[in-house]
Amino acid sequence: MSDPQNFYAEVGGAPVFDKLVSRFYEEVAADEVLRPLYPEEDLGPAEVRLRMFLEQYWGGPRTYSDQRGHPRLRMRHNPFKVGPIERDAWLRCMRIAVDEAGFDDAHREQIWQYMTYAAASMQNSDF
Ligand code: HEM
Repeated sequence: MSDPQNFYAEVGGAPVFDKLVSRFYEEVAADEVLRPLYPEEDLGPAEVRLRMFLEQYWGGPRTYSDQRGHPRLRMRHNPFKVGPIERDAWLRCMRIAVDEAGFDDAHREQIWQYMTYAAASMQNSDF
């Protein structure tokens, strides 16, 4: 398994994270569970925030923290109900994005493990 700090460079950097997150948001835009959760009409700024966060987590540029401070992701999700249905919808969209991003098997498996763990830890409602 790669050190998360090397992952960004190993998989090809910015273009790969761009592709991953834009594919994810294409699915979010069409998802009847997730789309209503997003407060802004334009999903573009939310897409940029997720992309910056993931790039930083996986060893890329630290732009997320420069612009947004400490991630505190659980706290930032408090305004939104994230129950099992929302978590599964998020993972469904992310599965498509991860599968189509062009990772080799080992990197795909590593980032997918992380996504399932992160999505479960963002849950803030049992229903
Ligand atoms: C923000 C939903 C899981 C990372 C948001 C927002 C919503 C949302 C509605 C506000 C959009 C905005 O930025 O304007 C969900 C749902 C999830 C989920 C329903 C289901 C489990 C995750 C996970 C991660 C993540 C697993 C990280 C791997 C982020 C980031 C932001 C964000 C970085 C922007 C935070 C900021 O304001 O800087 N999410 N999210 N989310 N989410 Fe999630």
